[in-house]
Amino acid sequence: MDFTFLSKYSQFFIDGTKITIVISLFTLVLGFMVGIIICLGRISRNKILSLLSSVYIEFLRGTPLLVQIYIIYFGFPTIGIKFPDLGSIQSEYISAIVALSINSSAYIAEILRSGIQSVDKGQMEASRSLGLDYSMSMRLIIIPQALKNVLPALANEFIVLVKESSIASVIGIQDLMYSADIVKGNTYLAFEPLLVAAMIYFILTFSLSKLVGAFELKLQNKNVK
Ligand code: ARG
Repeated sequence: MDFTFLSKYSQFFIDGTKITIVISLFTLVLGFMVGIIICLGRISRNKILSLLSSVYIEFLRGTPLLVQIYIIYFGFPTIGIKFPDLGSIQSEYISAIVALSINSSAYIAEILRSGIQSVDKGQMEASRSLGLDYSMSMRLIIIPQALKNVLPALANEFIVLVKESSIASVIGIQDLMYSADIVKGNTYLAFEPLLVAAMIYFILTFSLSKLVGAFELKLQNKNVK
């Protein structure tokens, strides 16, 4: 195996890794915000809202992310929906972040729903009987407890996002996967650049999962005290 290409191309991998991290972070924040809205729709007593949210979730979970990215990047402009360049951020980055966020929001909505439903029904009853209205009970009593229950699942979703973001390279996002591909083309090496990319992805996800593990332990210790 020949890794001498690293001296010339390491910057490619560093830049790609940065883009991968930034895209994942944006996706997490956006996906979380949309996920909360979809989750509230899903558990709402309004039948139409709940049905629409279910359709949204089922559709996004039941179709490949690759197809969704293509629909947003290639399909949307043909029906007049085109994301503009925002300063130095090119429109394909926006398409990728939108596609990844929308996809992730469906998973996040379901994670949040399971969290809310895991909070004992008595909590809502107690809160209502203390005079708080539904939305205040939700905000002050149910959601804080639900969030604590779902933190590990949310953290896991973040790990998944880091890996899934690699698919954005198909529309020209210059992330880690894309960098590996470029180096592969330039050096005629098929194996080594991909191995380097895999190692960097692994370092990212493994450190994240260790971080999450430590955090979970901290939460558990708090419970014991
Ligand atoms: N590879 C999956 C797909 O093509 C993406 C799953 C995304 N998962 C997630 N938890 N965000 O549909």
